[in-house]
Amino acid sequence: MTKAAMTAASARRIAPSVSPLRGEVTAPGDKSISHRALILAARAHARSEITGLLEADDVLRTAAALRALGVRIERDRTAAGAVWRVEGAPWRSPDATLYFGNSGTGARLMMGAAAGAGSAARFDGDQSLRRRPMGRVIEPLALMGVRVRSRDGLLPVDIDSSPPLRAIDYALPKPSAQIKSAILLAALGAEGATAVRETAPSRDHTERMLGAFGATLDRADGVVRLAGGQRLHGARLSVPGDISSAAFLIAAALIIPGSDILIRHVGVNPQRTGLLQTLAEMGADVAVANPREVSGEPVADIRARGSGLRGVLVPAARAPSMIDEYPILAVLAAFADGATRLEGLSELRVKESDRLAAIAAGLAAAGVACAAGPDWIEIEGCGGRGVPGAARIATRLDHRIAMSFAVMGLASRSPVEIDDDSMIATSFPGFFAALRSLGAPFPDKDRSS
Ligand code: S3P
Repeated sequence: MTKAAMTAASARRIAPSVSPLRGEVTAPGDKSISHRALILAARAHARSEITGLLEADDVLRTAAALRALGVRIERDRTAAGAVWRVEGAPWRSPDATLYFGNSGTGARLMMGAAAGAGSAARFDGDQSLRRRPMGRVIEPLALMGVRVRSRDGLLPVDIDSSPPLRAIDYALPKPSAQIKSAILLAALGAEGATAVRETAPSRDHTERMLGAFGATLDRADGVVRLAGGQRLHGARLSVPGDISSAAFLIAAALIIPGSDILIRHVGVNPQRTGLLQTLAEMGADVAVANPREVSGEPVADIRARGSGLRGVLVPAARAPSMIDEYPILAVLAAFADGATRLEGLSELRVKESDRLAAIAAGLAAAGVACAAGPDWIEIEGCGGRGVPGAARIATRLDHRIAMSFAVMGLASRSPVEIDDDSMIATSFPGFFAALRSLGAPFPDKDRSS
């Protein structure tokens, strides 16, 4: 996808689906795992092979940045799908700015990795990413001895490092896998053991994958310890489907009566499945079958059927395990019977958009009563009355806001228009095509998207 295609906003109207969704699909590769697979393979001392990589704009930006840092990355098409081959090599300092588009994960993880690899580079991103806080990563990197320059902790950020870095013992100020991972990636280039302390667990894909590349690390009582200077060997990795993308398909099936879909090969890491627990509490008919482990990550197939839902209270403690799922959960809450209250959402204010504000505005525009505070939202479910719809939704450069309200349009009484569907390509380029293959009423142009 070119930068021009990414930035060409296009509005899209989503009309209610007249028939149920039926059939099987696979979710696109996990975005978090895809970034990490490329980055760790690039830091290894041998060749790695990755299948199932998410080929969406965010991850392709990370691949492009790694190439600019001197890493050879090739993509081959095989009968079984695309294989990405990465030749781990020492990183150099790039001539040009590393541009991460919309991707907070790419920018933050790569700052840590580049620091650990001894590169000097400028990091930048799109308008949305330029508003997101980078101080949370810059601060621990500076403690490790990385020279960092930024204005007010925002992009563009310059980093310059000469390993060995200082090992640190760092208590995360908030549960964030991005901060934790940036520190661990930098710690590979530190002298001595770095400790990262978590107050609440966040996704542990980096820790699991470091093991797959032959690193030893110690994890106990919420502390991850990693000794610097370890040589990573090459690995063969298979990336599972992204539960955060599957969530939109699951939600569509739940609210379109009579639907019955199966999503194969979805990652079900326990730090990512808070939505499944919440859906069970809402009375959703969702079943997780055929559990297995692939490349050190738990994987399963997920079946979802049209269901009546009831409102629930989702406690703050659950937020880290479903942090990206609140927009689609809010849409589901609009279809439920009774009120839903979601708590502990301060981090939603600093995602690709201020998601709490975007959700509240979108729901209100679609005729759903809701109230929001600094870190909570309460949604009055429409239940049997149905969600009115008939709204134009401001998606605010946020893929998950766009997909959530597109799903709402499939089951609201009147169509919903999203003002810009282009950002969906950052995480789920085949979103409309996947829904269409299940029977959603989208035009032919989505066949290949
Ligand atoms: C991610 C961690 C989460 C999540 C993001 C991906 C990751 O962010 O919202 O989409 O891959 O580590 P935080 O670490 O800031 O919570």
